[in-house]
Amino acid sequence: MKIGILTSGGDCPGLNAVIRGAVLKGVAVHGQQFVGYRDGWRGVVEGDVIELTRGMVQGIAKSGGTILGTSRTNPFENGGGADVVGARMADLGVDAMIAIGGEGTLAAAKRLSDAGIKIVGVPKTIDNDLDATDYTFGFDTAIEIATEAMDRLRTTGESHQRCMIAEVMGRHVGWIALHSGMAVGAHVILIPEQPVSMDQIAGWVKLADDRGRAPLVVVAEGFRTDDMQQAHSEHGLDAFGRPRLGGIANQLAPELEARTGIETRATTLGHIQRGGTPTAFDRVLATRLGMAAIDSVVNGQWGTMVSLRGTEIDHVDFEDALGRLKDVPQHRYDEARILFG
Ligand code: F6P
Repeated sequence: MKIGILTSGGDCPGLNAVIRGAVLKGVAVHGQQFVGYRDGWRGVVEGDVIELTRGMVQGIAKSGGTILGTSRTNPFENGGGADVVGARMADLGVDAMIAIGGEGTLAAAKRLSDAGIKIVGVPKTIDNDLDATDYTFGFDTAIEIATEAMDRLRTTGESHQRCMIAEVMGRHVGWIALHSGMAVGAHVILIPEQPVSMDQIAGWVKLADDRGRAPLVVVAEGFRTDDMQQAHSEHGLDAFGRPRLGGIANQLAPELEARTGIETRATTLGHIQRGGTPTAFDRVLATRLGMAAIDSVVNGQWGTMVSLRGTEIDHVDFEDALGRLKDVPQHRYDEARILFG
């Protein structure tokens, strides 16, 4: 059997560990062959592949990024579609595909699966926003990076007695902000699920300042104050029609400074959160998911993705994973909020 693997959407630490886990198990246990599609769905639609041998995946679990390249190409646009994908698979002798990606990628994989393409999924995203899996690999690495960066912001903030605002990623959910904010001991954590007023934010900042602390505010890129209609976006839409977020920290900083009289600086961590070496947790999770995806293929569980349930790997329908975003529940925010100010 020949299996095609693709990584699509934003890159994420751990992608290479998935590829390695899948190829090693497929070759060693089932004698399968592998090709890797270059640059996500673009490689699928254009039939652009490289052979993935056991030798090619040696030692790659610790590398960030993806050896296959990725893109935000939509397989149903630019000359794509299920017929084209099926024809390219037949040309290359590919029997089945493993798509490693986030919400956009898995939604496209579901459409292909509904059209009869033999495809299984592996969820990836630093945002941790996919339902039907407890954690996605990449998230743990992102919060480590964000926490380390904010530990640094704290020492410079304390030296100057400034308010520091750190903007983290996460798209429409606040998991990265919540976890890194708790880890670093932030005085305010602002997440998309919980719009709050500028007065409230300024109140928390003043409380921290009054206690002689240099206030640290963590804001998720998708956060909006209670009088904003939608999250701040100044970079247009991505290939799947979703707004590209980022820039809210710079919007908040002057407003906060005006209200509190405390000198305020904003830092946007951006793609640093997605780069570099995955944590040990992410390497292990990604490797296990890659190996489990081979089980999905061998068992013909088309239209499913592998997922983490507690400490065990499960197989769930794309539909269950894509039904809704996994956002931060109220009780997790309430718990963190006790520490604000
Ligand atoms: O989904 C992962 C993510 O990093 C989001 O947190 C962020 O909003 C988005 O991707 C950024 O996308 P891009 O790399 O296309 O700018």
